Amino acid sequence: MKIYRAKDYEGMSRKAADIVAARVILDPNCVLGLATGSTPVGMYKQLVRRYNEGELDFSFVKTVNLDEYVGLAQTHEQSYRYFMQKNLFDHINIDPKNTHVPDGISDPEEECIRYNRVLNGFRDIDIQVLGLGHNGHIGFNEPGDCFQKDTHIVNLQQSTIDANSRFFASRNDIPKRAITMGIRQIMQAKTILMLVSGEGKADIIKEAFLGPVTPRVPASVLQLHPNVILVGDKAALSKL
Ligand code: F6R
Repeated sequence: MKIYRAKDYEGMSRKAADIVAARVILDPNCVLGLATGSTPVGMYKQLVRRYNEGELDFSFVKTVNLDEYVGLAQTHEQSYRYFMQKNLFDHINIDPKNTHVPDGISDPEEECIRYNRVLNGFRDIDIQVLGLGHNGHIGFNEPGDCFQKDTHIVNLQQSTIDANSRFFASRNDIPKRAITMGIRQIMQAKTILMLVSGEGKADIIKEAFLGPVTPRVPASVLQLHPNVILVGDKAALSKL
């Protein structure tokens, strides 16, 4: 595992964008696994800036996102599809047909089958970007008794619902379920790029990478991946 300690959020975002940009330059047909949440926003800004400066061409790049809330349409401001459009896809020359996010309003069971088919249709993901939940989740693979392999429906834990409440006007509007890529699918990525920022993530980062590998801390499974790059700011990595 490689660890990059950045001074702050800005430094973390720049380093993460360097790693993704290098992949896009080396392999213009690459498959990028993408995440949402507040942590990767700065990285997406950096990628858009580099695209505007003519450094990057996304015309043959393919993307697959980790997850989506059940019940939110693509046009809903808090849907992950909307997030991706606003933070990245609308600002670069990616072909919309090459961007994949689970659909929140299709029948969830059918959507899991469809999304598994989409993922199986690709060669492996070249770089999978991950954030980290305070409870150790990756994608929306919540702590549980076993690792779930493929795309599945998740009942979000109360701590995740609480963490997401900052984005919704009322508690009743917060989705309670999500569709997420499974652990096997994440682990099959050639490279994992995990981003962490802020002292609020320091304890869970320590547990995930220095504690036992257990589905109780889903991110701990990354200890078994041969090519993990962890990019964090000083505060998030302070206990590692
Ligand atoms: C988002 C995702 C989640 C987030 C995690 C951290 O697509 O899969 O696992 O990465 O909840 O979220 P932030 O970055 O908001 O702390």
